Amino acid sequence: MEKKEQLYEGKAKKVYATENPDYVIVSYKDDATAFNGLKKGTIVGKGVINNKMTNMMMKMLEKKGVPTHFVEEIDDRNTVVKKVQIVPLEVIIRNVAAGSFSKRYGVPEGTAFSAPTIEFSYKNDELGDPLINGYHALALNLATKDEIETIKKMAFAVNDIMKEFFKHLNIDLIDFKLEFGRYKGQIVLADEISPDTCRFWEAGTWDTTKHTSLDKDRFRRDLGGVEDAYNEIFKRLTEGE
Ligand code: TMP
Ligand code: ASP
Repeated sequence: MEKKEQLYEGKAKKVYATENPDYVIVSYKDDATAFNGLKKGTIVGKGVINNKMTNMMMKMLEKKGVPTHFVEEIDDRNTVVKKVQIVPLEVIIRNVAAGSFSKRYGVPEGTAFSAPTIEFSYKNDELGDPLINGYHALALNLATKDEIETIKKMAFAVNDIMKEFFKHLNIDLIDFKLEFGRYKGQIVLADEISPDTCRFWEAGTWDTTKHTSLDKDRFRRDLGGVEDAYNEIFKRLTEGE
């Protein structure tokens, strides 16, 4: 399948039309941003890793019964996906306190939860992706009640599958962000699953004072070793194949 006109350019990906109106091509860039685009940089090789990792995760989730937008990987940076209408919610699942949760509620990073949590952000760069609840999402017509219920169920199912999967790679899945889309009347998992959108900590380090991040926090927090972290995750993923 070939790229036609560019439909959209985001912070980390471009989207192109194809000859099939039901499909688009996603093209992953090495560009990295944080804090709603305030911090900008390049993570060399990130586009390749995020493309390939996302596709591995989507294929695994499909096999376990989670419908996704994935169609076919074209090459290192380009993948055909179903042309979905994105539900403008960032769906965040957390297993351990970190990042904005720790800041907002005053709990140390690394505090484990007895059960996973879910939260939504309204996908709106101008507003800075504010936290939103299901009633607000309904009031703003961002999704229907049924869609919100489906999204919650799917997000927790993805968490169960991914937590178990990464445990075998000696990685603790701390939290992650998902996006969903509508495709022919069905809610499907869309966007990406990568070190840009997940917190991965070296197993067993979450309850110590100093955990080892193998994700975009190395970029956000200027921890160094950014490319090494992406490469390490990808190495473990491919060794496990
Ligand atoms: P947070 O603790 O900053 O709210 O982030 C929670 C998770 O969501 C973390 O795994 C990183 C991911 N995330 C994104 O994918 N995109 C974003 O814009 C933000 C803020 C977080
Ligand atoms: N990608 C997001 C941005 O630039 C933020 C993040 O991942 O931290 O706004």
